[in-house]
Amino acid sequence: MNATAHIIDGKKVSAEVRAEIKTEVERLKSSGLVPGLATLLVGEDPASKIYVGSKHKACQEAGIVSFNHTLPKDADTETVFQKVQELNRDPKVHGILVQLPLPSQIDSEKILTAVDPNKDADGFHPTNLGRLISAKDMKEINALGIPIPCTPLGCMVLIEKTGVSLAGKNAVVVGRSLIVGKPVAALLLASHCTVTIAHSKTQNLPAVCREADVLVAAVGRAKMVEGSWIKEGAVVIDVGINRSAEGKIFGDVDFDSASAKAGWITPVPGGVGPMTIAMLLRNTVALAKKSHNARG
Ligand code: GUN
Repeated sequence: MNATAHIIDGKKVSAEVRAEIKTEVERLKSSGLVPGLATLLVGEDPASKIYVGSKHKACQEAGIVSFNHTLPKDADTETVFQKVQELNRDPKVHGILVQLPLPSQIDSEKILTAVDPNKDADGFHPTNLGRLISAKDMKEINALGIPIPCTPLGCMVLIEKTGVSLAGKNAVVVGRSLIVGKPVAALLLASHCTVTIAHSKTQNLPAVCREADVLVAAVGRAKMVEGSWIKEGAVVIDVGINRSAEGKIFGDVDFDSASAKAGWITPVPGGVGPMTIAMLLRNTVALAKKSHNARG
């Protein structure tokens, strides 16, 4: 008989991280540094509006000052580019977050590249992604203070909480997005895993997943990963947030069958989701400290 997996409680871990950040922000403020985050939302996408609203609320709770910039849905690339430049110049802004996806008429690559790499709260600037790939291991990534994309960083913090050591383990990432799949694969590699990135063209996906000691599902398809795809005792990280027609939220993993096989598993909701914002706050504070130190 299989034991039921341990649940990795993202809500609890996120609350702990946010409490630590709040204390750190108080300390920084008393020495004259007020960390600031600017968000830029283009258009009216309802989910994006909710996400951006949650980011401002979290900033407020942590004592981080936040600036909410919005542009109309028909804004052109040049207008968005100019707004990013303005935020780059603003000394009160230490972190910039351009909410994705941008409307289709916008050149997203041009906009993400316009963000000052030293204010890149999301870690999506090609320079920072390149530095992430170039770094030898996690120790170097941390020592260099490279901003790491928030959801992948949240996944790594949750994996760390299991106490499972990663060196030499097989990690399979299902999904190859810029926001999750590719950076989380880089982080697992920097943690000395043997990493496979699977995607929609991967052959025999269930067999690939069954090799995983660590499985990260980031595909955006409700309950796609079934219990029969999971290696006994694996660490399963479910990044999916899929809304049914009735408004119920499901992960990419079929929790009931998977939790009978896994050793550790994140629930949805209450797993990776709450970690993303906590990591955004962490990145913002780190960028603020770095800019302060650089100015001396
Ligand atoms: N859209 C979905 N996830 C993210 C994220 O982590 N950052 C930004 N900027 N946009 C997103």
